[in-house]
Amino acid sequence: MWDYTDKLKELFRNPKNVGEIENPDAVGEVGSIVCGDALKLMLRIDRETNRIVDAKFQTFGCASAIASSSALTELIKGKTIDEALTVTNKDIAEYLGGMPKEKMHCSVMGREALEAAIANYRGEAPLPETKEHIVCQCFEVSEEKIRKVALENRLTTVEEITDYTKAGGGCGTCIPRIEDILKDLWSVKPPEQPRERKKLTNLQKIALIQDVIEKEIRPVLQADDGDLELIDVDGSRVIVALRAMCVGCPMGGITLESIEEKLRELVDEEITVEAG
Ligand code: FES
Repeated sequence: MWDYTDKLKELFRNPKNVGEIENPDAVGEVGSIVCGDALKLMLRIDRETNRIVDAKFQTFGCASAIASSSALTELIKGKTIDEALTVTNKDIAEYLGGMPKEKMHCSVMGREALEAAIANYRGEAPLPETKEHIVCQCFEVSEEKIRKVALENRLTTVEEITDYTKAGGGCGTCIPRIEDILKDLWSVKPPEQPRERKKLTNLQKIALIQDVIEKEIRPVLQADDGDLELIDVDGSRVIVALRAMCVGCPMGGITLESIEEKLRELVDEEITVEAG
């Protein structure tokens, strides 16, 4: 029996914003009934202000999926789409007063539906997920999703990946590959919890960024025939160029996210990394 909070139980028994929006401005559909959970999120968006004026959902899933979807719609209503995109799966879980760790994949599904709906509103094509990028066949979980969820939630074990994505929770065939991904992701050193840092001057910050790139990031990329060049530092914006085998790599976006995570961990948590 899962240890659900009162808030989660309340939103399961009396979910908010269940149903359909007629002719929605955005639709995000994630998961599949075959895999046990599916969520369809519909948004009414004021096109003048890009503000979400209504959000409704339909879901096939457990109590946590229903409560998470309710929480998501409550969290994003009234926000602009840019503000809504700052809502993370952790925010959804916190809104519910916490969730059993085995059910965190429901909060991740909510965040994914939000991203899919906003991409739909913006006319962006969904990310292609080719067969070779699917790591877990049982739950159709891609390598990109495993890396993204691990980075965003600082996950380091297969068990945690299963809790947050379901990958590895079926036949178990994919577990060695998940272990390899985690080893690769955290190969420099295990993620540390955020700690107090002393304020750096601009020159100190630039020097530290250069040092981390040279000692921690480039050797990892070069081991896979890739490389990176630091182009500029503008406040907390770090502009880099991917080089060698990293140029044109379909995982380039994930590589930039990993670099950003590493610089936030070791230099400044405000840092953003972009390709120049
Ligand atoms: S392939 Fe991942 S659990 Fe079966």
